[in-house]
Amino acid sequence: MLKVENLNVYYGAIHAVKNVSFEVAQGEIVTLIGANGAGKSTILKTVSGLLRSKGGRISFMGEDISSTETYKLTQKGLSHVPEGRRIFQQLIVEENLEMGGYIQGKEKNRRTMGDVYQRFPRVKERKRQIAGTLSGGEQQMLALGRSMMSLPRLVMMDEPSMGLAPVLVQQIFDIIKELNKAGVTILLVEQNARMALSVAHRGYVLETGRIALEADAKKLLNNDEVKKAYLGG
Ligand SMILES: Nc1ncnc2c1ncn2[C@@H]1O[C@H](COP(=O)(O)OP(=O)(O)OP(=O)(O)O)[C@@H](O)[C@H]1O
Ligand SMILES: [Mg+2]
Repeated sequence: MLKVENLNVYYGAIHAVKNVSFEVAQGEIVTLIGANGAGKSTILKTVSGLLRSKGGRISFMGEDISSTETYKLTQKGLSHVPEGRRIFQQLIVEENLEMGGYIQGKEKNRRTMGDVYQRFPRVKERKRQIAGTLSGGEQQMLALGRSMMSLPRLVMMDEPSMGLAPVLVQQIFDIIKELNKAGVTILLVEQNARMALSVAHRGYVLETGRIALEADAKKLLNNDEVKKAYLGG
């Protein structure tokens, strides 16, 4: 579904992503794990068109999207939930969801919103609340809900569990599994490598901008180097 070949991304003189290639097949949960600064967010931003690679190629559903604008990618079914829950702080919860679904018609939007509220009852309870006043966990749920409003085929999530209490982390990962069961393909970036590998089918380990390892998630969970570097021994 997503094929990334030879990405090279620079911030001025800094070569942040070096010859990175990976694939995500339809129906998979694939995780990219790596230390702070390894280049995970840079890769997601490049796939979603916010940054550009020098050379290489990105294709989605067989189509070259290397130079496609971000909003067009959303229309094609590629959704990006960025790091740090970028919701519209000044708008109420329901307006945030409407923004996420603007590409659907009104009728369809209402139906999808019903689905989102069913999946996130906490978000529903707070639909008239100013989004910026939601708790961190509620904002993360709103960010995921807003992504669902565009009826994505592939969702790229950047650190969805960051800063959340363990019970909410578990809830977020349960939601990721449920979304995947409902047919959504997922590319998951996480610091919480243990949780990410426990829900994912496959994983890639990123070390200072390069892919160091690729394997089934179960294999990575049992890999000695991965254990030592990312799973606390
Ligand atoms: N706008 C920028 N200007 C300059 N350097 C940047 C910029 N954004 C990121 N970098 C650098 O690029 C490298 C990769 O950053 P990136 O945000 O992709 O890492 P990450 O793997 O997502 O890390 P984290 O787990 O901390 O979120 C880092 O060394 C970072 O300092
Ligand atoms: Mg990041």
